[in-house]
Amino acid sequence: NGEIRHWEGPTQDVHSPICLRHDHGPERVRIGSFPLMTEADALAALDAAAAAYDNGRGRWPTMTVAERIGHVQHFATQMNQQREEVVRLLMWEIGKTLLDAEKEFDRTAAYIADTVDALKELDRISSRFVIEQGIIGQIRRAPLGVTLCMGPYNYPLNETFTTLIPALIMGNTVLLKPPRHGVLLFSPLLKAFRDSFPPGVVNTLYGAGRTVAPPLMKSGLVATLAFIGTSAAANALHKEHPKPHRLRSVLGLEAKNPAIILNDADLNQAVEECIAGSLAFNGQRCTALKIIFVHESIVDHFLTLFSATLNAIGHGMPWESGVMITPLPEPGKPTYLTGLIEDAVRHGARVVNEGGGAFSATFFRPAVVYPVDGRMRLYSEEQFGPVIPVVPFTDTAAPIRYIEESEYGQQVSIFGRDPQALASLVDPLVNQVSRVNINSQCQRGPDVFPFTGRKDSAVSTLSVSDALRAFSIRTLVAARDV
Ligand code: G3H
Repeated sequence: NGEIRHWEGPTQDVHSPICLRHDHGPERVRIGSFPLMTEADALAALDAAAAAYDNGRGRWPTMTVAERIGHVQHFATQMNQQREEVVRLLMWEIGKTLLDAEKEFDRTAAYIADTVDALKELDRISSRFVIEQGIIGQIRRAPLGVTLCMGPYNYPLNETFTTLIPALIMGNTVLLKPPRHGVLLFSPLLKAFRDSFPPGVVNTLYGAGRTVAPPLMKSGLVATLAFIGTSAAANALHKEHPKPHRLRSVLGLEAKNPAIILNDADLNQAVEECIAGSLAFNGQRCTALKIIFVHESIVDHFLTLFSATLNAIGHGMPWESGVMITPLPEPGKPTYLTGLIEDAVRHGARVVNEGGGAFSATFFRPAVVYPVDGRMRLYSEEQFGPVIPVVPFTDTAAPIRYIEESEYGQQVSIFGRDPQALASLVDPLVNQVSRVNINSQCQRGPDVFPFTGRKDSAVSTLSVSDALRAFSIRTLVAARDV
């Protein structure tokens, strides 16, 4: 509500996944703490957001587009001054490599600039008049109300801002709840929020999601839920809303994106793309390749090349050069991933590369597991980590059936040389997922492309221009032509 409050209540320590060695062994480093806000704090923030929106009469939702753009640009300038600090926190809090942390920051700055350009274009279109059957119409974009933005730990800055910025710029007021891992990096931005937006327009809530989010939803005053995380958590939040039909949802959820490698694929290219696709940020991306189907005539060759490349991948601290494998922020992750491998091995698969698996409390060397089949958890469970199941196939009907029967429908990558064979896969696949990648890994960007999913993978679409639509409603002003 336009002020930075000094917190005197209970706090929660934040430990980095980076371990330092003490006398008694390696230990996660404590790097800070955050306030454990209560239900009452959450409701006070909600009051501030609701008052600033004031049922659509507030200063923020009634401002001109140009004025709102001015506020957002002021924020962007202030945010850019915090680049070094935010990048450092990204490395220490979630173990993102220096290069990826810098990319995350710069991509966010570019996203804000592109959003401003997209809004100017949308506003230009909206200010046109249309005459139809004697009615002069102007279609405007109006805000929806209070938005609750909850981002994920793997892109705590970037993905949170892909909903926060469009929600704000379209005239909504916002409750922002940073993720559990990736929470500290919001502190250097608080001053920029305070100095760039009118009171009540941005309200940052700290604490446990299960404490602060349900009362907000129960109030019925949240007009839009912008949530990136698991479908179970999104469903639980939905159930709290007294009138869910009034709630707009912008959700980025889970995925189990497959790669399909055809028998004529360029294997060097396929391996390179599959390594980046399955292991960037240790596989902790919704868009990561999470299962690889390989034609059985080339599977041995693929596994040899893939394993050799994996064995050469560097691991270490996020700021070290040439490192791809870094510490995992979720404390239980190595144990969880080990359980997935053990389950697959029990059912007849094996780890085909050297040294795959946990090798310290927070490090996990990538493991390639083969041959994986439907009896194993790795076949259908979203591992969100560096374990890569490989499945042999003889007929593409098998991976297509896998995708049709999956709970998820985000993306797929297909690798091959014959244009006819590739084309014959595209048609059945476009009706199953929201992006078909040819000879390249799955990914969200570039951010001008639509980013969405089917089934349990997403609700609504987030691209620079789609997001402006997601956080607004088309409102018609219609006048009888006299
Ligand atoms: O975790 C899900 C993100 O949307 C992935 O984004 O493909 O740009 O890494 P990315």
